[in-house]
Amino acid sequence: MNILLIGSGGREHALAWKMAHSPLVDVVHSTPGNPGMDEVGPCFDVGVTDVDNLEKLALQLEPDLIVIGPEAPLAAGLSDVLRARGYDVFGPSREAAQLESSKAFSKARMVAYGVPTAAYGEFTEPGLAKAFLRTMEAPYVLKADGLAAGKGVVIAQTLDEADAEVDEMLSGKFGDASAVLVIEEFMHGEEASIFVITDGEGAVYLPAAQDHKRVGDGDTGPNTGGMGAYAPAPVVTDGIMARVKREIAEPMLKGMARDGMPYQGVLFIGVMVTDEGPKVVEFNARFGDPECQVLMKGLKGDIVPALLAAATGGLAGNEAAFEALLELELFEPTATVVMAAKGYPGTVEKGSVIKHVGKANDLPGVKVFHAGTDMNEIGLLTANGGRVLSVTASGKTLREAVDRAYAGVDAIDWPGGFCRRDIGWRALERG
Ligand code: AMP
Ligand code: GLY
Repeated sequence: MNILLIGSGGREHALAWKMAHSPLVDVVHSTPGNPGMDEVGPCFDVGVTDVDNLEKLALQLEPDLIVIGPEAPLAAGLSDVLRARGYDVFGPSREAAQLESSKAFSKARMVAYGVPTAAYGEFTEPGLAKAFLRTMEAPYVLKADGLAAGKGVVIAQTLDEADAEVDEMLSGKFGDASAVLVIEEFMHGEEASIFVITDGEGAVYLPAAQDHKRVGDGDTGPNTGGMGAYAPAPVVTDGIMARVKREIAEPMLKGMARDGMPYQGVLFIGVMVTDEGPKVVEFNARFGDPECQVLMKGLKGDIVPALLAAATGGLAGNEAAFEALLELELFEPTATVVMAAKGYPGTVEKGSVIKHVGKANDLPGVKVFHAGTDMNEIGLLTANGGRVLSVTASGKTLREAVDRAYAGVDAIDWPGGFCRRDIGWRALERG
């Protein structure tokens, strides 16, 4: 098989690396890719939302499967364009991807299908939004409706702060993305990320993962795209997983199909495990980054049959066969530590030199995935973004996986970078 993968982050490097291990796969082409993905297969320089040129690239490469990594091309309708051309595409339609690209759409679907989530209201008028806030208790959760690069959610501790945020968002803080504002109830509990590979009807569930969104140790400081992750996440017990399937995933997939928007690809369910059970924090239309790195590294079996079946149909009724190919029961505890450029999630300096990634890769159980990396004119690896490397490791236990990942971090020589030192703490504290 010839695969075309769209994206250039740690998530996509992990997907490329994993797919390339499949006996079914001859070549993984990526665009735009990164220096890590370059080592897996040929990379092209078409950007992820350049739909016209992506279509041309597909016509040139004639891939047997196209895998779309990030959300922006999904929201731009890339899957629809490529499917109309007859390609098999892993990734939901523009319409179905609104579960991520519009919080208001997503909340309305959850309510329609009876899926547990925080109570909410949807506003375009500041006066009405502020009146609604006065019916709620602190802290207040305000969300820009559209995609805002992970910055569209504000948790305000006081009414004054919340009022100010209402004014800012509705007067264009995030442009069109905050023309509509969702205000919702604050949910208490522990978060987890659950990934469902689906053809719109059948579904295969990967082991639950947990992200670390705050930049600093002890979950302090501003939110980021994610500073590290691990799986399996013990907060998602078998009982919680069964409820996520029955109360969240199944009604969502059924409802979307019934309403003419079948969801094909991976549904990322951000859940809050509350005293009342699992509730949806958000849906995403793609794998999580850095959760994907952990899942691809920890999986022992082949992911490609499940991705292909999600794209072409044929999962429903055959879930057990795909789970067997994934070898889910052999999933190894895995952790990833994100190394980011100093200053992230704020402004970062580009161009600092990174050494000894190879040394880290030689350590037992370690695989370093690239995200914002580049090669400079003399062939040295440099930092070219906020999140730069995902140092990922598996072990017999999560403790071993975490220790191995940090051994990998310590082998890398990059004075311009930093990482959290407490990835996995929730699970490790449980013992
Ligand atoms: P989102 O982009 O919707 O996932 O929100 C970003 C982060 O804000 C989530 O990962 C949660 O940590 C937090 N958050 C969002 N909505 C809520 C809520 N209703 N209650 C508590 N925390 C929330
Ligand atoms: N790690 C969370 C996300 O990908 O949205």
